[in-house]
Amino acid sequence: MSGIEEKLRQIEELANAEIGRAEKLDRLNDIRVSFLGKKGTLTQVLKSMKDVPPEERPQVGKWVNDTRARIEEQMEIYRARLEEEGLARRLREEEIDVTLPAKKPARGHRHPNTIALEEVERIFVGMGYEVLEGPEIEYDEYNFTKLNIPANHPAKDEQDTFYITDDILLRTQTSPVQARIMEQGKLPIRMIAPGRVFRSDEVDATHSPSFHQIEGLVIDKGITFADLKGTLEVFAKELFGADTRTKFRPHHFPFTEPSAEMDVSCFKCGGKGCRFCKGEGWIEILGCGMVHPHVLEMCGLDPDEYGGFAFGVGLERIALLKYEIDDMRLLYDNDVRFLKQF
Ligand code: DAH
Repeated sequence: MSGIEEKLRQIEELANAEIGRAEKLDRLNDIRVSFLGKKGTLTQVLKSMKDVPPEERPQVGKWVNDTRARIEEQMEIYRARLEEEGLARRLREEEIDVTLPAKKPARGHRHPNTIALEEVERIFVGMGYEVLEGPEIEYDEYNFTKLNIPANHPAKDEQDTFYITDDILLRTQTSPVQARIMEQGKLPIRMIAPGRVFRSDEVDATHSPSFHQIEGLVIDKGITFADLKGTLEVFAKELFGADTRTKFRPHHFPFTEPSAEMDVSCFKCGGKGCRFCKGEGWIEILGCGMVHPHVLEMCGLDPDEYGGFAFGVGLERIALLKYEIDDMRLLYDNDVRFLKQF
């Protein structure tokens, strides 16, 4: 009997020593298993009860239970201590220096096309224009017929595109928005319509099968070519600088009569001629003209009462010129190192 008592004392001593050396909560758990678990040292003693005479069993049982309680108590004390120490250590180690500059989230950047478009919109909205949109998938009728480009017209070849059916195509120009807006019949009209257009062109430094245009349309009573020139001159000066001069060259577009192309004086050399303007002193910017009476009629307006002007600008062209980018493909590479420069 005293043999058991002695053994229990040794177990308790050993347990206390190991508990005292534990540096981690995990270790305490291991100790609990090895002493108090199902196969633990103390449990073994209980299992050997069958060898103890029955009258002594209550006494031995009490010793075992007391020992167990004391070991548990000891473990509890150490558990609390380790937790406290752990918390203190974490507070020490994870201390943050609030005076350090914060990590800034990486911010995106507006695309040169977007910057140029917003600039053009700002100029025209400032002159009282609305910004409208039309569909990229368009009827042949709006893209061509209502713009005075009937079937078999050679202009259709110049703007070869992607057909979805015989009547439906990816629009080759933003001009169909003109027809759509005139048809709605809400007059007067003063609008620009930016958007994506498509042509079956090969990719090179100045061509892409998909690019953007900005269409302009003004319809009212008594609009003249002077209104067109004045408006586009203001536009050119706002976009390229107050010293910019403009020049209108006669041209042909099926949906305007008369038609013109507008050049601006080179904003690099002021018109003397340089590498940028290829020695010309002038840079071609847009197509424009007075809306053709036949187009007005096809869109339900009376050409004797109403008239107006229209223009079409290539957005990429503006972005390339304004930001002096020499290859259109750079605009679509999506290389942030390139985009960040503007
Ligand atoms: N849609 C023409 C093109 O893609 C550009 C254009 C020229 C638009 C004259 C117009 C205009 O509105 O009046 O080449």
